[in-house]
Amino acid sequence: CQGGEPPVGGKPISSNLFGLFFEDINYAADGGLYAELVQNRSFEYAPAMQKGWHPFTCWDFLRAGYSIGYLNVGTSEPIHPNNPTYAVLDIELVGAYPEIRGLSGVGIINSGFDGMPVNQGDQYFFSFFARLLSEEPVDFLIQLQDTKGKALTGGTLKVASGEWQKYELTLTPEVSCDSAALLVLAQSKGKVALDMVSLFPEKTFMGRRNGMRADLAQVLAELQPRFMRFPGGCLVHGDGISNIYDWKNTVGPVEHRKAQRNIWNYQQGYGLGYFEFFQFCEDIGAAAVPVLPAGVSCQNSGGTHVIGGAGQQAICMEDMDAYIQDVLDLIEWAKGPADSKWGSVRAAAGRVQPFNLEYIGIGNEEKITPEFEERFRMIQNAIRENYPEVKLIGTSGPFSDGDDFERGWEISRKLGIDIVDEHYYKGPDWMLANLHRYDSYDREGPKVYLGEYASWGNKILNAVAEAAYMIGLERNGDVVSMASYAPLLARKGNTQWTTDLIFFDNRNIVLTPNYYVQKMFMNNQGDYYYDGLVTFTTEDPLLSASTVYDSTTGDVIIKIANPGMNPSKARADLSGFKGIGSDAQCFILRGAPDAENTFDAPTNVHTVTVPVRLNNAAVLEYEVPAMSVTTIRIKKE
Ligand code: AHR
Repeated sequence: CQGGEPPVGGKPISSNLFGLFFEDINYAADGGLYAELVQNRSFEYAPAMQKGWHPFTCWDFLRAGYSIGYLNVGTSEPIHPNNPTYAVLDIELVGAYPEIRGLSGVGIINSGFDGMPVNQGDQYFFSFFARLLSEEPVDFLIQLQDTKGKALTGGTLKVASGEWQKYELTLTPEVSCDSAALLVLAQSKGKVALDMVSLFPEKTFMGRRNGMRADLAQVLAELQPRFMRFPGGCLVHGDGISNIYDWKNTVGPVEHRKAQRNIWNYQQGYGLGYFEFFQFCEDIGAAAVPVLPAGVSCQNSGGTHVIGGAGQQAICMEDMDAYIQDVLDLIEWAKGPADSKWGSVRAAAGRVQPFNLEYIGIGNEEKITPEFEERFRMIQNAIRENYPEVKLIGTSGPFSDGDDFERGWEISRKLGIDIVDEHYYKGPDWMLANLHRYDSYDREGPKVYLGEYASWGNKILNAVAEAAYMIGLERNGDVVSMASYAPLLARKGNTQWTTDLIFFDNRNIVLTPNYYVQKMFMNNQGDYYYDGLVTFTTEDPLLSASTVYDSTTGDVIIKIANPGMNPSKARADLSGFKGIGSDAQCFILRGAPDAENTFDAPTNVHTVTVPVRLNNAAVLEYEVPAMSVTTIRIKKE
């Protein structure tokens, strides 16, 4: 390591402390991080996903130029049994009176997620799967249109095969449009089945096909997270056994993936599936932390098969072997050789080299019932037996304390689980009253993963309280090995959880004050913690500071949170760190307690950088502003 041996007096702490938690809540996947522009591309929307939804939700039927034709739902001989519903266009007559912008024909039009944002000169990859159901081939016009129906770009395709085939076209808009729509118009007589109608920007994050929306992925990458937990949250165990997240439905060709309702009451199309999650983690330098259900559903499940205490459903014992095999198969899929059964599925998707898989989570804040315990024990035994090198993350239930919490921890201690996942959403006052929560945790038992936390708000006050709390996590980085804020992403107008790290619409991203705090902490992690090096002139128990050393770079990092309304002076004696420079940069987030960023004022709150200098005795003196968070990185010379 470049930094060399850490100076004496340091306590080793987790070098993977701060990372991300991704859950498909608030349209974080489809309509969010996943770059697909067509909504309901596979015609699988259904009332069971959301009241009022049907296979043509988000699609309009169009008969232009006095054409005669019909749109129906098809289900026989689909592309794949996992993708059972498709659209059937039946064109009886193509009209001779092209009254709307010169168009005649029968077709469908999709307006994406509140419109499709497209840019002049950029390329967009259009594709659909089609099967001819008539004798005569069918000609198609594919167009991107503005809100008035004016063509931005277009192209033609001919469907001539009676077998499902993929047809592709590249579209390049001549002008930009914030709210385009995609027209798929049959322009000759005939009958054709259509499915997987897709439009993808060429410019995804790192140019990946079937990849991530570039700007959103970029702000995640800029956090430099050490890990990413996915795919949830309560979405993992679902609100009933039939609704648990089955990773096998999310891999393989996208047209073979089995969409389902997610617990937040919309569709997860699984275009963003396990392959894409692992690849994205690698692309942003984060360890992949998949979480699988522990054989029981969410603590709030309803339904008729309730056997695990209040609102919990459990997989029947006779089905548990198959379920456990699914869990083991995931590990083989991720890290098994390309010629293993599941490694070959990964390899067929283009990834011959195994992915890195160091951690696996089993369970997400379930009610800790006997049914949970029995199934959790079976799953963990199987993982231990087959993959002893994989670190197991268990759960302490849905709360920060109480009976479930104690039982969850007790089970984990008994079974020797590596890490226990804790979740809590609390107000800033609670955070500030509990800065020392982990000081007294047992250093001999399992480590802690604070997998979900937030202080119910996106104002400066929340961000500063979270920073003070995170300083407590860093101080306890010998027992707290990972922590991730939640939830991560929220689409404007589709938000089920009001406090989130990043808000977005089709064009804009609003980074919250909480985001800036997470960025300061993720960008500046260390692996040794030094106690008592920062002192304050003001007596205020809420003033918090930490000093860490990053042995990969040799840099020293100080973090200070001041959740109060009085400024203070801080003094840091860094003379024990040899070889560090005397000039440093200070990153400061400050403001009125209720200051926030909004779509109208997205940069109201942000970090500013100011230079600071150590004196000849390697002492740093710094004026700590009221209601602020500061990070100072002193680089090795
Ligand atoms: O982050 C939102 C939800 O909060 C998660 O799905 C769940 O784990 C927690 O209750």
